[in-house]
Amino acid sequence: MATALKINGKTHQVDLPDDVPLLWVLRDEVGLTGTKFGCGVAACGACTVHIDGEAVRSCQVSLSDVWGDVTTVEGLGTPDAMATIQKAWADHQVAQCGYCQSGQVMQAAALLAENPAPSDAEIDDAMQGNLCRCGTYPRIRAAINDAASKLKEA
Ligand code: FES
Ligand code: FES
Repeated sequence: MATALKINGKTHQVDLPDDVPLLWVLRDEVGLTGTKFGCGVAACGACTVHIDGEAVRSCQVSLSDVWGDVTTVEGLGTPDAMATIQKAWADHQVAQCGYCQSGQVMQAAALLAENPAPSDAEIDDAMQGNLCRCGTYPRIRAAINDAASKLKEA
């Protein structure tokens, strides 16, 4: 029996085994390839998406365990009206190879939703599970601080 999943505001009927990780549902079934596969064992954060606003590792959530609405990096903003966080990422030229960055953005969005004015230590703590082999951590921190300021002004 197909499972109904609401992803980025749209309902999808997914006819796959219950134990298929959400990551592969998103990438292979729904075609949302912004969410990346890195490690497959919850150790890198490349696959981070939101379920009901909570940042989760989609490689570790089975289809049958998805408990709410899913948001991927594609659902945070559009190319014409980029979300504040994505604009801060662009302004600070955060991405190097870019592979980890959708996961970084999703983790940052969850952080700012929970804590609109995080300290540098709180940013580092919240982001520590999202690895970047290109070492963009200082720019990630700067972009989060910038996004926090812009969101406060909005
Ligand atoms: S691919 Fe999911 S945490 Fe690395
Ligand atoms: S930008 Fe290359 S892995 Fe993070």
